[in-house]
Amino acid sequence: MQAVERYSKGAIALHWLIALALAGEIALGFAMPKDASGFAEYQLHKSIGITILLLSLVRLGWRFTHVQPVPLEGGVTGFLAKAVHVGFYAFMIAMPLTGWALVSSDPIDVPTVLFGVVPLPHLPLGEEWNHLSHEAHEWLAWGGLALFALHVVGALRHHFLLKDGLLARMGPNAGAVLAMLGLTLALGLGVLFGVAQDRDMQIEPPAQQTAPVAEATPSPTPTPTAEETASEEAVPKEEDEPAEEAAPEEVGEPEMATPEPAGPPPSWTIQPGGALRFSVDNAGSALNGSFGTWRGDIMMDPEAPESAAITITVDLASASLGDATQDSMLSGADFFDTSSFPQATWRSTEVRRVSGNRYEADGTLSLKGVSRSQRISFTLTGNGNARTVEGSATIDRNAFGVGTGSSAENLAGSVRVTFTFDATS
Ligand code: HEM
Ligand code: HEM
Repeated sequence: MQAVERYSKGAIALHWLIALALAGEIALGFAMPKDASGFAEYQLHKSIGITILLLSLVRLGWRFTHVQPVPLEGGVTGFLAKAVHVGFYAFMIAMPLTGWALVSSDPIDVPTVLFGVVPLPHLPLGEEWNHLSHEAHEWLAWGGLALFALHVVGALRHHFLLKDGLLARMGPNAGAVLAMLGLTLALGLGVLFGVAQDRDMQIEPPAQQTAPVAEATPSPTPTPTAEETASEEAVPKEEDEPAEEAAPEEVGEPEMATPEPAGPPPSWTIQPGGALRFSVDNAGSALNGSFGTWRGDIMMDPEAPESAAITITVDLASASLGDATQDSMLSGADFFDTSSFPQATWRSTEVRRVSGNRYEADGTLSLKGVSRSQRISFTLTGNGNARTVEGSATIDRNAFGVGTGSSAENLAGSVRVTFTFDATS
């Protein structure tokens, strides 16, 4: 085997190019705002990330077609150095792939155009991959930082303690390698602080000025019923703080893809003609009923469901199975006990888009003195200011103490609630 003293020029060039790109990329990844205001940083991050993937493939190809310098050290430290190098190669490939996967499986479809020129297609991955790839992308980043620390400590050990000239194998001389080390650290820290500061400054102006899509979010018109219900704390106070309510930092952890809302989410008025039904199995046959009186305070931008605030209030005395005797039983203590608990309320805590026009909302259902988390699923059809809402929820009636006596013996535990109504904003 032909022995060489140092890495080839190509390997050295690729090593430092990738090292610098990675330092900037990790810093950018952590520092970029995780909402729509970071759109440009996201595109840059994705562009640099895919470039790193391509450069890493070239580098691996180069490695297998060129002679490597023989390792200077064996034993445990030699093995560790080798393991860090292998780890780095895995990292350089896995990091962009998980990033690509998380973007591809995101429920919100944001196109990626590398450096504003080359469109990047999505990988054929379903939404079920989104969480996993997201977690992997983040944990791998920490793994990469650990590898970096080990790698640099190892290199400096060779230089200052062992004094075996190892640094010079990855550059024209040891001084040049130390200079590159400084540059790598400066780039990483520079991007980190630069983007972080930039973000601090961007948070100040009102959201409207930078909103990319204004036409999809009509200006809010408060529903006349807004004050009538006990829902004030769930509804953003739009008169007081019009811009801040929709500011990205209020929205928990929104997807980067969500177009920035142009103001508070629009409020929707439920039109007459809707239906709120329930159905429960009773000894093998379905018992179907409905609620005659209910209302909703809905503030939601279909394009940015994270900022939604929804409250549905149901008058329990309006429950009917279409039979007077059964209806009076429903109002009684064994069922709704409407004299003590006239209303049931559901308030959203987190609304998200599952895909296309399908949404899922977690919330709290307060029924018969018990408050528990309750999920609702719904779809929106129609466009602009007029939508049709259809949805359902499965409620565990026993958890709320509804149906306790002998008359409920044959009733199934889970009650299916369905609703459909038109709403305009
Ligand atoms: C994120 C940044 C970095 C990555 C991903 C990286 C990756 C690697 C990899 C994979 C190798 C093994 C090359 C091979 O045998 O195929 C290597 C070698 C080397 N790296 Fe880095 N490196 C980075 C930063 C640095 C820094 C900052 C220094 C300076 C202290 C450095 C100094 C070296 C040296 C001297 C070698 C040669 C080791 C030897 O001859 O055994 N690297 N690097
Ligand atoms: C070597 C390449 C890459 C590195 C080192 C890297 C690093 C990072 C880091 C450190 C974060 C922040 C993690 C967090 O705060 O939780 C991040 C986030 C992200 N990266 Fe990458 N990334 C790379 C490639 C890519 C690629 C190729 C894409 C897409 C094509 C991508 C898409 C994303 C996205 C969308 C996020 C934000 C996730 C969120 O919303 O929290 N990354 N990346």
